Amino acid sequence: MDRERLSVYINSLDDQYSPLLRRIAKEAAGEGVPIVRKETASLLKTLTVMKRPSRILEVGTAVGYSALLLAENAPRECRITTIEKDGRRAMQARENFERAGRGKQITLLEGDAAQILPGLSAPFDFIFMDAAKGQYIHFLEDVLRLLKPGGLLISDNVLQDGSILESRFMVERRDRTIHSRMREYLYTITHHALLTTAVLATGDGVAVSVRAWNEGCEAAAENVCTDGTADRLRELRGDGEE
Ligand SMILES: C[S@@+](CC[C@H](N)C(=O)[O-])C[C@H]1O[C@@H](n2cnc3c(N)ncnc32)[C@H](O)[C@@H]1O
Repeated sequence: MDRERLSVYINSLDDQYSPLLRRIAKEAAGEGVPIVRKETASLLKTLTVMKRPSRILEVGTAVGYSALLLAENAPRECRITTIEKDGRRAMQARENFERAGRGKQITLLEGDAAQILPGLSAPFDFIFMDAAKGQYIHFLEDVLRLLKPGGLLISDNVLQDGSILESRFMVERRDRTIHSRMREYLYTITHHALLTTAVLATGDGVAVSVRAWNEGCEAAAENVCTDGTADRLRELRGDGEE
């Protein structure tokens, strides 16, 4: 199967994007700003309509494309919080939220998610993780704390254009840390007692996880998890390495 042609065909089927989103996507491409791939955008739209979230958290705003995509497909009363550490992108995102008339619906927190996430307390029923791939594993503990029972966690770029399946020694030395952290992340979210996860080869790889509805699973994650996930998470809390 020619995945590239298939992807072009699938993308041609979904043309349901507002003129503003199209414009922002074009501007982002012109400036070399990364935004979600088209097939990932389709998936995000579908999951948002299905979930009808009331509070969304996004980690990695860039210029606000996916935050606006989420806003357009969520109920009007849904509130969105999005985190971006790059000052210039944060400014452009704010402008785009105003252009869309959604400046009040979307709150942008400027700074490093590693510092911002521990200070958040509102529960979210939809979390979109789309920041530095090597940091997902470090964000996970806070993300799980912030995710409501039955909430969705969507993680983008988890397959790293396929290089995730290579052995550590087959990837460039400079990419090895990200590679091993992403493998650790994928292992953790697919084995965690609180999460049910499907890893999809959509776009650059998207993991769709649902947090258990049963709060009793908290205890399972802390005490009964036989695969060592809870221990791994505890270890990772102390891992300050970049
Ligand atoms: C792939 S882009 C996000 C694209 C955006 N979600 C979209 O689809 O429109 C990733 C963004 O995450 C930001 N980022 C990376 N690490 C971060 C961190 N630790 N805290 C906050 N933002 C971060 C980068 O500056 C970049 O703008």
